[in-house]
Amino acid sequence: MTRIAIFASGSGSNAENIIRYFSEKENVKVVLVLSNKASSGVLIRAQSHNVPTFIFTKNDLNECSKVHKVLKDYNANMIVLAGFLLKIPLCMIKAYPNSILNIHPALLPKFGGKGMYGMNVHKAVVENNEQKSGITIHYVNENYDEGDIIFQAKCDIDKHDLPEDVKRKVQALELCHFPNVIESIIP
Ligand code: GAR
Repeated sequence: MTRIAIFASGSGSNAENIIRYFSEKENVKVVLVLSNKASSGVLIRAQSHNVPTFIFTKNDLNECSKVHKVLKDYNANMIVLAGFLLKIPLCMIKAYPNSILNIHPALLPKFGGKGMYGMNVHKAVVENNEQKSGITIHYVNENYDEGDIIFQAKCDIDKHDLPEDVKRKVQALELCHFPNVIESIIP
């Protein structure tokens, strides 16, 4: 049985999509949603699906033991970052080898790294006159956005597209692909 813990800091559209998708599967379950932001929409979305939630601070994450304990309490054996904005510390990476996935709203290795999240990414893509953007789903290592890539999908960017337009196109790709890609790496 794969027991997923989702880490998220934002509105939670990806987290909710993943929860919905796996609610119909027998061998995979989202057991916990964790956030570093008490005001994030993801917590309300998780609760509306009766998924337990846990809020922690940046220090808790970096120090590891508190977050690790709650993951163990729920027997989580896979971590999915769905719009999570803090760096995952080495202690967590060592505790979950090859079992932490992230989604990034651009085609890595471009537009990744510290500070590159959400609208910042889409603004940079438009400012750079890119003709394509997309999503990257990858394993997480100790550097931001540098783990091995599992999957990418692309969308076209028209020359009049605003960052909001790119966000909409990328979000459609995220909702379409993220749950299936998670499922595809489950043994
Ligand atoms: C998503 O677009 C995700 O790719 C991005 O944050 C958004 C969260 O949206 N992640 C990053 O930028 C990570 N660097 P959501 O809260 O509605 O799922």
